[in-house]
Amino acid sequence: MSTLAPAISEPANVPRHVAIIMDGNGRWAKARGLPRIAGHQRGAEAVREAIKGCIELGIGVLTLFAFSSENWRRPAAEVSHLMTLLQVYVRRELGELAGAGVRVSFIGDRGGLPRETQELLRHAEQETAANRRLLLQVALNYGARRELVEACRKIAIEAVAGRIDPAQIDEASIATRLETAGVPDPDLLIRTSGEKRLSNFLLWQVAYGELLFMDTLWPDFTRQHLRQAVDEFQQRERRYGAVSA
Ligand code: IPE
Ligand code: IPE
Ligand code: MG
Repeated sequence: MSTLAPAISEPANVPRHVAIIMDGNGRWAKARGLPRIAGHQRGAEAVREAIKGCIELGIGVLTLFAFSSENWRRPAAEVSHLMTLLQVYVRRELGELAGAGVRVSFIGDRGGLPRETQELLRHAEQETAANRRLLLQVALNYGARRELVEACRKIAIEAVAGRIDPAQIDEASIATRLETAGVPDPDLLIRTSGEKRLSNFLLWQVAYGELLFMDTLWPDFTRQHLRQAVDEFQQRERRYGAVSA
């Protein structure tokens, strides 16, 4: 992370939180006559680009959708390769990420992940817990509906125990029980590969996020694409239901 170019954007207009649905690895590989796995490997390089780009631009939080709760439907060999790739990536990158001031955090149902993966995730979180330059949230075995169900379950348990009055339940009651509690909502959500859907990602948190769909396949994503996305974000007018200024 040593080649830090000056940020091009006005810091005030830079999104605080960018979330990315990293899509198109399989199509990238197919277009080259390679196995899908080769696309995932190249995709890991694009993750490096996205992280460096966020640091350069002064973005505070980057959330990456790496494996959805629905991705278990893929062939077992692909799932197992993705888990291995994740472990290799975390082991290989952890030192550099920690040195660059990146705090790593994982969201999603980690109980459903292989045990050694769970231990590695905990280790990465502990090693980087004090870092403040960039919060990197990686969504693994993540599904937004499950996250919302869990938040509702926690509220129900507390209500039954008499600690919460149902009449007092508000948006904060839910937001503070999501896995992203305390993290500002994404200002900008990018999905690569031309697909225009959320695929069960951060449904609550993107209520007012700016959505940006780009045709670039994830393995081809570079810092330049991130800069272009931020440039477009800066031209949008966020009204939150009010009228233009
Ligand atoms: C995204 O790329 C990576 C994961 C979902 C893990 P895909 O593997 O979905 O690539 P396409 O959509 O098949 O091209
Ligand atoms: C969403 O991509 C999940 C991740 C990027 C990890 P998918 O490729 O799995 O989504 P669908 O199946 O096209 O909706
Ligand atoms: Mg896909």
